[in-house]
Amino acid sequence: MLERAPSQVKQILVTGGAGFIGSNFIDLVLESNHGVSVVCLDSLSYAGNVVNLESAVKHPNFAFVKADLCDGDGLGSALDPFDFDWVFHFAAETHVDRSIHEPKITVMTNVIGTLNLLEYFRGHWLNEDQCHKRLVHISTDEVYGSIQDGLFSETSRYKPSSPYSASKAGSDHLVTAYFTTFGLPTLTTWCTNNYGPRQHPEKLIPLMTIHALEGKPLPVYGDGLQVRDWLHVHDHAAGVWQTALRGKVGEGYCFSGGLESTVTNLDVVNQILGAVSAHLKVEKSELDGLITHVEDRLGHDRRYALDSRKAAAELGWTPKVPFQSGFAKTVEWYLNNPEWMREVQGTDYKDWLSRNYSQPKGGHQ
Ligand code: NAD
Ligand code: DAU
Repeated sequence: MLERAPSQVKQILVTGGAGFIGSNFIDLVLESNHGVSVVCLDSLSYAGNVVNLESAVKHPNFAFVKADLCDGDGLGSALDPFDFDWVFHFAAETHVDRSIHEPKITVMTNVIGTLNLLEYFRGHWLNEDQCHKRLVHISTDEVYGSIQDGLFSETSRYKPSSPYSASKAGSDHLVTAYFTTFGLPTLTTWCTNNYGPRQHPEKLIPLMTIHALEGKPLPVYGDGLQVRDWLHVHDHAAGVWQTALRGKVGEGYCFSGGLESTVTNLDVVNQILGAVSAHLKVEKSELDGLITHVEDRLGHDRRYALDSRKAAAELGWTPKVPFQSGFAKTVEWYLNNPEWMREVQGTDYKDWLSRNYSQPKGGHQ
C-alpha cells in the first residue's frame, strides 16, 4: 500500500503506464488512493500493452489516453482536458540492446519526448499556484555507468555507456534545467534493475523464463558475471510515490535493492532454472545445458550499485520485498500467466529475437 496523497492532489498523470513499472505503479495508486484520479498517457509502442492495465481500466478513477510524447502538438491536445497536480514520467524507450540497434528512436522518445512534456507543463503550470505541483522524472542507475566496487549516489558524476543511458542522462539534465531556469517543480529518481510481474520479455528475467520453459537456449551475454542490484517493482513504485509526497523540488533520490550488489546474471539464470525445473517436475540438471554463452552486449556495463541512504533519511523509504521470495514469486507469476506471455510476444518480438540474437554485434575492437 502507498501513503495517502495530500487532499489538494486530485488528478495525476502517469506517462508510460502501459509498460512494466508504470502499470504496477498505477495499480498501487488506485488501490491505495481512492480520491485520486489517474490518467495514463502512452503511445502503446511495442513495449506498451493494454493487457497490463487490465485491472486499472475497470476502476472508475482511471482514464487512458493514447498519445506519442514525440508529437508535441498531439501531446497538448491529449492533455488539455485535464488539470494535473502530480506527473510521473515513466515513458521511455527502455531496452539497452534496442538502443544499440536503433539509437535514434531511443533518443527521440527519451530526450525530445521529455522535452515536449516539460514544455507542456511549463506552459500550463506557469500561472497556477505551483505549491503542491510535482513532476517526478523516473531515471536509472545506468546514467552513472559501471562501478567496480562501492556505490554511486545522487551526486556521482554521469558517465553513461549506451545510447539508452546517454539519452536518459540527457533527459535528466533537461528536467533539472527546467527547475533551475523556469522554476518547474521537478524531481528525479534513479533506480537499479527492477523485477516483478509484467516486464517485457525482451528483458533478462522474463526472456530466460520463457526460453527455459520452451527448452530453448538461454543466451547469456559474455561470461555472465555482470552484477545488477535487483529491486522489486513495488518497492520502486513506493519510492517514486514517496518522492512526490516528501521529496524536495529540484532534488533527486536513489533507490536500490541493497543486495550489496553481488548477484550475477548467471546466479539469476540459475535461480530461474531452479523454478522452471520445479514447475516442469524435472531435475534442474536436465535444463542446465540450455545455458549458452553468446557474444557480449556492446559497451556492456559490468556492475551497477546505488546508495539509497538519502531516500531512507528524507523520504522514509526502504525496500520491503526480500529478493529471494520476491524473485521466486516473480518467476512463478510468469509461469502462471501463459496468456499474458503469449499476448506480449507478437510479431515484433519474434523479429527482435532474430535481429538481436542471430546476427554478429559488430562493435569496435
Ligand atoms: P517499459 O519499456 O516496460 O515501458 C515503457 C512504456 O513507455 C511503454 O508502455 C511504452 O509504450 C511507453 N512509451 C514508449 N515510447 C513512448 C512515447 N514516445 N510516447 C508515449 N509513451 C511511450 O519500461 P519500464 O521498464 O516500465 O521503465 C519505465 C521507466 O523506468 C523508464 O523511464 C526507465 O528508464 C525507468 N527505469 C526502469 C528500470 C527497469 O529495471 N525496468 C530501472 C530503472 C529505471
Ligand atoms: O539498471 C536499470 C536498467 O535496468 C533500466 O534502466 C533499463 O531500462 C532496464 O532494461 C534494465 O537494463 P539492463 O540492461 O540491466 O536489463 P536487461 O534485462 O536487458 O539485462 C540485464 C542483464 O542481463 C544485463 O547485464 C544484460 C544481461 N542479458 C540480458 C539479456 C536480454 C543477457 O545476458 N542476456 C540477454 O538475453
